[in-house]
Amino acid sequence: MINAIVLAAGKGTRMKTDLPKCAFPILEKPMINYIMDALDKTKVEKRIVVVGYKKEVFYDLLKNNCVFATQENQLGTADAVKAALNYLDDGITLIIPGDTPLINYEKINSLIETELALKKDITILTTFLDNPTGYGRIIRENGKIVRIAEEKDAYEDEKLIKEVNTGIMVVDNKFLKEAIHKIDNNNFKKEYYLTDLLKFTTDIASIILDDNDILYGINDLYALSRVEDMVRRNILKKHMLNGVNIINPESVTIYPDVVIEDGVTILQGSFISGNTIIKKGAIIGPNSELHNANVLENAKVKHSVVYDSRIGKGATVGPFAHIRMNAIIGEGNRIGNFVEVKNSILGTTTKASHLSYLGDSEIGNNVNIGCGSITVNYDGKKKSKTVIGNNVFVGCNSNLIAPIEIKDNAFIAAGSTITDNVDDNDLAIARSRQINKKGYAKKYK
Ligand code: UD1
Ligand code: MG
Repeated sequence: MINAIVLAAGKGTRMKTDLPKCAFPILEKPMINYIMDALDKTKVEKRIVVVGYKKEVFYDLLKNNCVFATQENQLGTADAVKAALNYLDDGITLIIPGDTPLINYEKINSLIETELALKKDITILTTFLDNPTGYGRIIRENGKIVRIAEEKDAYEDEKLIKEVNTGIMVVDNKFLKEAIHKIDNNNFKKEYYLTDLLKFTTDIASIILDDNDILYGINDLYALSRVEDMVRRNILKKHMLNGVNIINPESVTIYPDVVIEDGVTILQGSFISGNTIIKKGAIIGPNSELHNANVLENAKVKHSVVYDSRIGKGATVGPFAHIRMNAIIGEGNRIGNFVEVKNSILGTTTKASHLSYLGDSEIGNNVNIGCGSITVNYDGKKKSKTVIGNNVFVGCNSNLIAPIEIKDNAFIAAGSTITDNVDDNDLAIARSRQINKKGYAKKYK
């Protein structure tokens, strides 16, 4: 059996915040979930996550995706592994810290393969860093790894060593179960260091990581921001290689679960998050924010915000539109500047080109919402619905006081405040009649 122990019990004192370190989000997704997602693609068969500080947070994040072991007091990484021992099945165990989210499944698999082939007590993943400060240094004698010197315990000459411990290793369970109890805490931090396992065997293999970025351990908020930037760049690269044209990628952020088809263009300053899906030929940006949006083929969203809503095929949104709360913008719609659409369903080729609010409404095909017209959906106590049929013309600056229904082909005269339903083909005018007073202007001036 191939087991994995993920270490996530620490508080992350250096983060200087209350949230447990391994639960910190990187582009919305908690650090630990990056590791679990990588493990999903490996040969690991059983996953044990060691939790301690604010463990409920992890129960929530990981649900039934793993076995939880509890480390009551955070006495060090070896003590954390001890907490998981009872859950291990015979075989080998991958041990991975919960604070190295960039690790990829290929590396984990090659570490496991090496252990399966060589059957060593320990197979460890190391790497070379120009600035190794903070990491455990790999001490070799005649080329063979003999121990790991932690930053605070390393001698001055050992601190110059650039080969470091990634924190990721695969161990033979029989060896682990014996040796772990021999580890003491006679060190600078008075902690039980997992790295001291190496003191109890010479049967050690190592793999050297060639891409340093993926080992990056997050210990403080600065490191978190560095990793977030790396994750962001990786996501952009993946989309670009898949045929998404991203202009000025330095200014664009796309979150991990966003799906974008080839042939989409993302212009500068765009921020796309949640479970957004963008279909072929769509153009997003410049400067648009999309969250849980579903943008269909060839739609355009310019300088606008779309939350939890759908933009139909070939529709154009913006500049400066706000589409939110389950709004469905129909095929070929034109939603122009300073238009807000909330919780409304619009049919095909409908237009609201300027300065409108459409809330809690159902609007048919081919409707024209004139400049400045609004659905008056709130009376201070409750929200009410506006229903507009097909081919309706709503003149500029009209108020449609909900609940109200305007039927097919009706015409609302500009400047009307409509309080009663309007029937098919009717014209509604609801404004006071104009009076022109002969010569009064001259007299007045
Ligand atoms: C550890 C390694 C170091 C390595 C580095 C790589 C040890 C002693 N040192 O140092 O050699 O270079 O990772 O990133 O292992 N944790 C617990 N319980 C505890 C303590 C820690 O679950 O009692 C968890 C933490 O939540 C964290 C992981 O173990 O996810 C690593 O702990 P951390 O304090 O970050 O160790 P480093 O100082 O980074
Ligand atoms: Mg760390």
